Amino acid sequence: MFKEKFNQHPFLFEHRIANNPLFSMPRLLKLALETQAVRPQELYYDAGHNVPIGARWNDMGDKPPLEEAFQRIQDTGSWITIHQAQRDPEYAVVFNECMREFETLSGRDFKKMMRVEDALIFITSPKRITTYHIDRECNFLMQISGSKTIHMFDQRDKDVVPETELETFWAVDKNAGRYKPELQQRSTPLRLVPGNGIHIPINDPHWLQNDDNVSISLSVNFTLKDSERANLYRANYFLRKAGLQPDPPFTSPVGDVMKNVAMSASYVPARSAIRAIRRLRGQETRTS
Ligand SMILES: [Fe+2]
Repeated sequence: MFKEKFNQHPFLFEHRIANNPLFSMPRLLKLALETQAVRPQELYYDAGHNVPIGARWNDMGDKPPLEEAFQRIQDTGSWITIHQAQRDPEYAVVFNECMREFETLSGRDFKKMMRVEDALIFITSPKRITTYHIDRECNFLMQISGSKTIHMFDQRDKDVVPETELETFWAVDKNAGRYKPELQQRSTPLRLVPGNGIHIPINDPHWLQNDDNVSISLSVNFTLKDSERANLYRANYFLRKAGLQPDPPFTSPVGDVMKNVAMSASYVPARSAIRAIRRLRGQETRTS
């Protein structure tokens, strides 16, 4: 299953880290406080009941002190994330072991394909919703404590994920994914309980809701070195801005190569990118 579905389709799997004392609340608070002191950009938390599924990351409310968010996690409506937990040597042992095992099971060489790795820990209050979003990371999300439901959507369903959303996501706005309540029935709800986990391919949209319990999960994730996907969507973003109707990525091998070349030189300013792509691709269809 890992070999066949890796970064293509979501799937559930089992793990054995649910009882690891590194994921007890006192130990996690210690990690969070150290992260806040040394690497504050890698700690995020908020508080707020009744967050709508479609809220954007930056719509969240005020936050209490970190200790309070932990101590009153039962009723603060909190969402706490600790990035780069593997910078702590104790968490690094767990993270590296998970990575080795996922790598072996998937039959891929993660070291060759990976750009930035992240041991990301989520601690969330009862009933708390993690809003609808798409990610740029390849993700193995492991449930450690509490239970919740993840609603997975298929990025190939273009009603759910229009090309323009992916283009905007990769080019300019990581909040570009828009929840469409009328299409909720197209999602697959999957139960996450202590001892299982889910593989989430890059760009498959999802949202989550806790049961009436505190939830702790570990996301072992990484971005890819290969920037082709980002380049193709960015190229299409600029082409569409220029009034063209570009082919979706991975449907035209020749066009993909041209777009990838045009967008590869680190960051290409929008106007230059459009000129370069227009030169390379005379065949794009004008929409207006
Ligand atoms: Fe996610």
